[in-house]
Amino acid sequence: ERGGYEHFMIKEIYEQPKAIRETMTGRLAKDDSGVIFDELNWTKEYVASIRKVAIVACGTAYHAGMVGKYLIEKLTRIPVEVDVASEFRYRSPLVDEHTLTVIISQSGETLDTLAGLKEAKKQGSRVLAVTNVVGSSIAREADHVIYTWAGPEIAVASTKAYTTQLIVMALLSVYMGGLKGTIPPETSKELCHGLKNLPAQAHELLEDVEAIKTFAEQYGFNEDVFFIGRSLDYAVALEGSLKLKEISYIHAEAYSAGELKHGTLALIIEGIPVIALATQLDVYEKMLSNIKEVKARDAVVIGIGFKGDTEIDKYVDHTIFIPATNKYLTPILSVIPLQLLAYYAAVTRGCDVDKPRNLAKSVTVE
Ligand code: M6R
Repeated sequence: ERGGYEHFMIKEIYEQPKAIRETMTGRLAKDDSGVIFDELNWTKEYVASIRKVAIVACGTAYHAGMVGKYLIEKLTRIPVEVDVASEFRYRSPLVDEHTLTVIISQSGETLDTLAGLKEAKKQGSRVLAVTNVVGSSIAREADHVIYTWAGPEIAVASTKAYTTQLIVMALLSVYMGGLKGTIPPETSKELCHGLKNLPAQAHELLEDVEAIKTFAEQYGFNEDVFFIGRSLDYAVALEGSLKLKEISYIHAEAYSAGELKHGTLALIIEGIPVIALATQLDVYEKMLSNIKEVKARDAVVIGIGFKGDTEIDKYVDHTIFIPATNKYLTPILSVIPLQLLAYYAAVTRGCDVDKPRNLAKSVTVE
């Protein structure tokens, strides 16, 4: 059932081009003019009435929500809050009938997330679930459901569920922005076009993993790793760090690069691996300065940048290049090398990749 792969996790990493293609199927207008969600069928009036979006999720799904916040705010100009479900449910959240609560959960069964959904409903909010499991508790309780069509995810470490959740976040932002009139038609077209290219680009990234394997073998025995980035790269850094922690047991921390000086820089010493994401061009120069800061402390820096970026290469020890895409879509590609890095680090360390210690695939207890 692992289809020739050594672990479910690596099989699922390789299933991503297909999973993201299937999650987009039928949801992009043929002429790339916008997004279609038959399952929502929202009106302009409804979208105009939304005053706030509250995203609620746990773990990796929460990280997808962080990307969602960025995209929804940029493309719809509606304020978005993101909470981990175990905080949201107990903090008397300020949601009401003018709030759209978006619940993200691969399994659709995470107890805290389900409780967050119920709390939002109790306060009168409309609830949209984004889940991978048809008929799951969360799908049944929500007012609307958008399914991610990732197929069953078996490995505890979430991979293809995350990238398909990102696809849904992008589709939803374009859909809502289209109805709200906050996205110029060219931007909408560009995004649809960019989305269509992603399966082939993800496939391209998965073709050449030798360098990543080598890094994992080289740095897999280091006890601390840092991930830094700005803007959407910061959200991806958080996900890369979680992946590494949960399956390789390496202590990893993700930091927004601009925060380094406020504490974490004290931990950057000679030989510490720092994974630096630099795909967000509006903050690119700032990111390069942060890279120079960690380099000045003799960290070993692995940069993630766009193919053709000759600048980053000057400041880092190694670069992993990703294919060029729209700035809002980069997380879907930049996370793939991080998933692979975590996977090969765990394999190098002889960890039980698919069933890491102390963790369960679906957290149905508090
Ligand atoms: O099924 P869910 O998406 O609700 O699960 C949420 C988290 O438990 C899950 O993403 C967890 O963080 C993963 N092990 C991360 O790889």
